[in-house]
Amino acid sequence: MPGTCVVGLQWGDEAKGKIVDLLGHDCDIVVRYNGGANAGHTVVVNGKAFKLSLLPTGVIRPGVISVIGNGVVVYPPRFLEEVDSLAQGGIDVTGNLFVSDHAHIIFPYHIEEERLLESGSEGKIGTTGRGIGPCYQDKVGRRFGIRMGELLNEAHLRERLRFIVPFKNRLLTAFANGHGPSVRSFDSETIAEEYLGYAQRLKPFVRDTSRLLQDALAAGKRLIFEAAQGSLLDVDHGTYPYVTSSSSLPSGIWGGAGVPAKFITRIIGVVKAYTTRVGQGPFPTELTDGPDGIGERIRRVGREYGTVTGRPRRVGWFDAVAVRYTATLSGADEITLMLLDVLSGLTELKICTAYELDGQQLTHFPSDAYQLERCQPIYETLPGWREDITGIRKWADLPTAARRYVERIRELVGLKVSVVSVGPDREQTIMV
Ligand code: GDP
Ligand code: IMO
Ligand code: MG
Repeated sequence: MPGTCVVGLQWGDEAKGKIVDLLGHDCDIVVRYNGGANAGHTVVVNGKAFKLSLLPTGVIRPGVISVIGNGVVVYPPRFLEEVDSLAQGGIDVTGNLFVSDHAHIIFPYHIEEERLLESGSEGKIGTTGRGIGPCYQDKVGRRFGIRMGELLNEAHLRERLRFIVPFKNRLLTAFANGHGPSVRSFDSETIAEEYLGYAQRLKPFVRDTSRLLQDALAAGKRLIFEAAQGSLLDVDHGTYPYVTSSSSLPSGIWGGAGVPAKFITRIIGVVKAYTTRVGQGPFPTELTDGPDGIGERIRRVGREYGTVTGRPRRVGWFDAVAVRYTATLSGADEITLMLLDVLSGLTELKICTAYELDGQQLTHFPSDAYQLERCQPIYETLPGWREDITGIRKWADLPTAARRYVERIRELVGLKVSVVSVGPDREQTIMV
């Protein structure tokens, strides 16, 4: 089993972090290959919560190497903040954490550009405001992107910023022109000083990580690829334009880590027992039943507030049409069903088995956001259970209705359910 990928099959926050952590005892290297500090992965070990945005979840496992691949966009102050906060908690990552010299860097003008674009009422995506999209635009556009390796060359960095920053200032003024908030203006020398300071501390972490990973595979090491975001936020296959700017599907691994697909021998699709989404975009099974409704209850019990932005997550029923689509796209071999405990106490549970669009029944997922917007969910109703299941550790001990709910999801998605999670802690896990 050289390479396992852990990928979210919904709109993110499926509890991928918990699954990566569980597999961590049996692996040598954990790799992030997409996204940046827009992710928020919480892992709970013996009641202690670790919150990671940019660093791979592997960093909390002693002896595991963590790698930030070339496909990730890195905001250096955030990287150093997470390293420092781990050190304060007694976890020293020196020598255990590496970041690709090809990873692109987020600068303050990226964050400002996003703030301006997101502050208008039109074209809003509801992003995390971390500069992710503008940084990927510069990467693909080639003229203004700066990579980690370039940060370590002082003269080169100064020269690049002298060329880029005046252009960015003009661009930002144009974005804000006439309407919207006042614009920040940047000075290339100030940014250079700030980032050269970060470079001093980042230097020991920067590596040719593709080679590191290829050497590791040749030496028989076991790798876990930790996707950020969810498959429905994938830039190509998600609900575009309400997506993130990277490939969150396993297809992102080859490009984002430099590891050929043939090494990925196991793909684990992570799903919540219901659905959540943060930001704009269509969500057919969304529960909008008000402050006393089921949606608000699930949000409260599941603590459905964004790790990165604190925004309340939108909440809805499990959408089997969407998950069938992403399970197929991702090539998932199995699914892990998370946060089942959050549904305890509900009298009835609904699962979306098809959509209705213009009087027709649709059993496939239209990834076109504008078409999906018009889809109405068709539900199947199952009985709920009253018991608290957070202390259960064996499949056979789950209430009959809970088992039936999991079985039905297995049938509808067409994949085995290998894990059922009944609480945030490592221990609160049922191996099926
Ligand atoms: P990720 O981004 O996919 O890693 O997921 P997040 O960490 O953003 O969100 C998942 C949240 O659910 C975290 O706060 C976890 O600690 C928590 N969690 C994970 N599994 C369970 C579970 O089975 N039950 C409950 N109640 N919480 C869980
Ligand atoms: P994890 O890894 C949930 C969402 C944002 C927004 C859209 C684009 O914790 O599952 P961006 O800042 O990426 O340009 O925002 O994507 N989004 C996430 N939603 N979980 C995430 O990561 C997310 N990362 C981005 O809310 O709708
Ligand atoms: Mg998250």
